Amino acid sequence: MKFITVKNYEELSRKAANIIAAQVISKPNCVLGLATGSSPLGTYAALAKYCDDGDVDFSGVTSVNLDEYVGLDGTNDQSYRYFMDTNLFSKINIDKNKTHVPNGCAADLKAEGIAYDKFIKELGGIDLQLLGIGLDGHIGFNEPDKFFTAETHEVKLDPSTIKANARFFESEADVPTKAITMGMLSIMQAKKVLLIANGEAKKEIIEKAFYGPITPEVPASILQLHPDLTVIYSEN
Ligand code: GLP
Repeated sequence: MKFITVKNYEELSRKAANIIAAQVISKPNCVLGLATGSSPLGTYAALAKYCDDGDVDFSGVTSVNLDEYVGLDGTNDQSYRYFMDTNLFSKINIDKNKTHVPNGCAADLKAEGIAYDKFIKELGGIDLQLLGIGLDGHIGFNEPDKFFTAETHEVKLDPSTIKANARFFESEADVPTKAITMGMLSIMQAKKVLLIANGEAKKEIIEKAFYGPITPEVPASILQLHPDLTVIYSEN
């Protein structure tokens, strides 16, 4: 594991964007695993600038996102599809048809999960997976549990996650209680994993996840077993 401590969010975003840009430059038809949340916003803004400046060309890239709320479609401004379209895809020259987010409105979420994993496998897996981390150690929406789940699956969100994500909604009651998330297999099979986190509030969970025991009670801790993991953390 490479653990990089940086001085602020801006430096974190620049470093993360540089790692992603290097991936796209060295393999223009790569598969990027992408994340939502506030942590990657600066990274996405930096990537948009690199694209604008003509330094990175995303036209050959395929993306697969980690997760989506159950019941929200892409027109809903709280959906992760909407988040990705607004904060990244509309700002870079990626082919929109090559961007993929699990469908939280699928009639059969189990079948959607199976199809999503099959699709990732057919792509040849993920070259670089970007991750944030929840305050309870979740990655994607893999919540603390008694076991790790391998496949893309439906999850019931933890009350603490609903609370944490309420800031993006009008009220806590508006936060969906379920989501569909990539499981640990596709994440762990990604050739490279890059996890970013910032803020004092994340310090404790970062220590637990990367310097504590590997346990499904702290889902991100499984990443300690990944052969090419980079963590970038900024306390500010
Ligand atoms: C959500 C997402 C995660 C993300 C987490 C942390 O729950 N499903 O993928 O990592 O939030 O979000 P933030 O970066 O806003 O702290």
